[in-house]
Amino acid sequence: MQTESLQADDKGFARAAEILRAGGLVGMPTETVYGLAANALDSTAVTKIFAAKGRPADNPLIVHIAKFEQIYDLVKEVPPAAKKLAEVFWPGPMTMVLPKADCIPDTVSAGMPTVAIRFPSHPAAQRLIRESGLPLAAPSANTSGRPSPTTAQHVLHDLGGKIDAVLDGGSCGVGVESTVITLATNPPRLLRPGGITLEQLRSVLGTVDMDDAVLHPLKPGVRAASPGMKYKHYSPKADVIILDGNDEQYIRYVNAHAAPGVMALCYDGDDASLKVPAICYGSRTNDSAKAHELFDALRSFDERGATTVYARCPAPKGVGLAVYNRLIRAAGFEVIHLD
Ligand code: TXA
Ligand code: MG
Repeated sequence: MQTESLQADDKGFARAAEILRAGGLVGMPTETVYGLAANALDSTAVTKIFAAKGRPADNPLIVHIAKFEQIYDLVKEVPPAAKKLAEVFWPGPMTMVLPKADCIPDTVSAGMPTVAIRFPSHPAAQRLIRESGLPLAAPSANTSGRPSPTTAQHVLHDLGGKIDAVLDGGSCGVGVESTVITLATNPPRLLRPGGITLEQLRSVLGTVDMDDAVLHPLKPGVRAASPGMKYKHYSPKADVIILDGNDEQYIRYVNAHAAPGVMALCYDGDDASLKVPAICYGSRTNDSAKAHELFDALRSFDERGATTVYARCPAPKGVGLAVYNRLIRAAGFEVIHLD
């Protein structure tokens, strides 16, 4: 199949909405990452998402809406906590998991009794949802296991020839996927950290637990609360290794291991002292910049033929928690503590 590249203009939106209504797949910009959208109420269309991405069938999808009231058709009930979160964080990079309504196909929820709902803030995502007149199921528009796409070019690289179209909305602002919180447990629990921080969620809801899988590999035999957490994720082809140490220790270690194919994912300014090719992904203190740059950097290492990437990783708090959560998975939980 030939994948159509659509501009975010009247013609592009009209064509994308037409494809979605006909049961096709469209790469859609959002403020987090690009999504691969299909009609959430059409099981046949949703099945095509899993095929295009090579996504395991037991990993459920997020349903995207463009006004709060749409949620009432998609979930069993809307508890006060959901209304509070929506008031503060929607539209935006936060997804809520709630008991699902009967209209949600099992393909979307992957057989779970719940459904994940998000109201994105990106104007192009909102317009596409409105023009199609549909709730849109959309996982990140990458091949399963690869870093999530933050540009239309990333989507075409992974899924060109496998999907009907991609709508080009430029590069994504946040750069990592939305924060996922389940309200189906008491207290609510953070399943995936993102641009809305755990600290922000707690400021609205009080107690919010953090799922073990946010920071740690899943223990054998334990069922994942969020199935996406159990798969190896975000991996470039290179072996990513996180180095935990100060500026001097990091630079010394990387330079001592310089060799063809060895590269560095470092903080701004480190590159001046490094003897290997490096990508700076933000300053030590700017975790939002790191979130914005992370996936593009991981993809660039592939293009540059990296075999080993020595990465610096922020502390797991604020938006840094989201960066840490993605990077530790890209590294297969491999961390070297320097001293
Ligand atoms: O920012 C985002 O969330 C992007 C954009 C496109 O909206 N979407 C995205 O979707 O990242 P995806 O499919 O790549 O990640 C969805 C995550 C997965 O870890 C999945 O297991 C979890 O949300 N999830 C979805 N439905 C769930 C449910 N009912 N219960 C628990 N976890 C769920
Ligand atoms: Mg994904």
